[in-house]
Amino acid sequence: MNPLVEDTGSPPIPAVQGWGRGYQGARGPLIDLCQAVPGYPPHPELLARFGQAAANPLYAKYGFIPGDTALREAYAAEIDVAPARVVITAGCNQAFFAAMLTLVPRGAAVLLPVPWYYNHKMTCDMLGLEARPLPTEAANGFIPDPEIAAGLMDGVAAIVLVTPNNPTGAIYPAATVKAFAALCQKHGAALLLDETYRDFLPDGPFEAPPENAIRLYSFAKAYAVPGHRIGALTLPETLVPQVAKVLDCMHICPQRPAQVALAWAIDGLRDWREANRREMASRVAGARQAFGANPAWRIESLGAYFAYIRHPYPGISAWDVTEHLAREHGVLLLPAPAFGGSADHLRVSLANVDAAGTERLVARLADVTHPPKSGRQLLGTVT
Ligand SMILES: Cc1ncc(COP(=O)(O)O)c(C=O)c1O
Repeated sequence: MNPLVEDTGSPPIPAVQGWGRGYQGARGPLIDLCQAVPGYPPHPELLARFGQAAANPLYAKYGFIPGDTALREAYAAEIDVAPARVVITAGCNQAFFAAMLTLVPRGAAVLLPVPWYYNHKMTCDMLGLEARPLPTEAANGFIPDPEIAAGLMDGVAAIVLVTPNNPTGAIYPAATVKAFAALCQKHGAALLLDETYRDFLPDGPFEAPPENAIRLYSFAKAYAVPGHRIGALTLPETLVPQVAKVLDCMHICPQRPAQVALAWAIDGLRDWREANRREMASRVAGARQAFGANPAWRIESLGAYFAYIRHPYPGISAWDVTEHLAREHGVLLLPAPAFGGSADHLRVSLANVDAAGTERLVARLADVTHPPKSGRQLLGTVT
């Protein structure tokens, strides 16, 4: 057994879903807001094109390691970069894993704003990289401070920013991203920008990030196809052959029918994506209003896809609160400590339900009974 993997924390969603299976339905149907997935199905034409491509023997063959040309070109045009800089991956998590393996020597440090996306932390742990926490505060909207980061750069090979953020929903100002890019340049470190939620900015298009940013993207959320496992990594062209070595060992090529369908969808579903962006913005606004009616569960941060809320039981771990909510009240959320965050916070994934669903959630929270205190530590990533 590789001790690095053995010592890596487990993902929280299976645990929370397991608790949900213990819920007897006493308070109404289960309200599942734990996984960040769109509650609506993919567009029917995307599914039809996927089906056609899957039935075509051509796409049963191996494709190019960095992805099929049509999707690389369509995505490159979307973000205005050269297609040769784009590598298509089997999802954004794989893009991150491949980027870390390619760019960060074993033992080097990776600076992660806290709370972090737990798969980023898990990747660092299993690759033998030091995941170095960069603290952020609710009072500053969980926006990481480049000046604090500057004092933590010794041995840092990469900084990872997720904006819009998972789990807090925070949207980093362009000036913050620029300051981190300058910091990375100064220290010869890589800046990785996870743009998984870029299509859900409430005020429209994403501002182009600095040239030196290595960009990660997921097609899962904007196209509602998390099961098809397609993501993208955009990096300097000189690094493409290096990352291709890693990907050749992982999957040889990304699955092809979804690449064919998505190459069409980038332009073909622009209006549909825009309508979903507006829908998500209205869910976010609806969540602010709904939680306003129940201030005991206070919103600490809100944006794009997530609400990050404070539970009303000081001294009780968010893990205990989460388990109690799932088993006794039929509400599935994620505890902030799973993201390295505070024991007082929980993450709500707003994408899973419409505005009425958020209202049902808030009404259900109003009736929550006091959670029992377990022997669990207040912090920690593993249940
Ligand atoms: C910030 C972030 N990056 C990456 C991913 C994973 O994306 P994919 O499903 O494309 O691997 C997620 C999924 O929730 C995410 O929130």
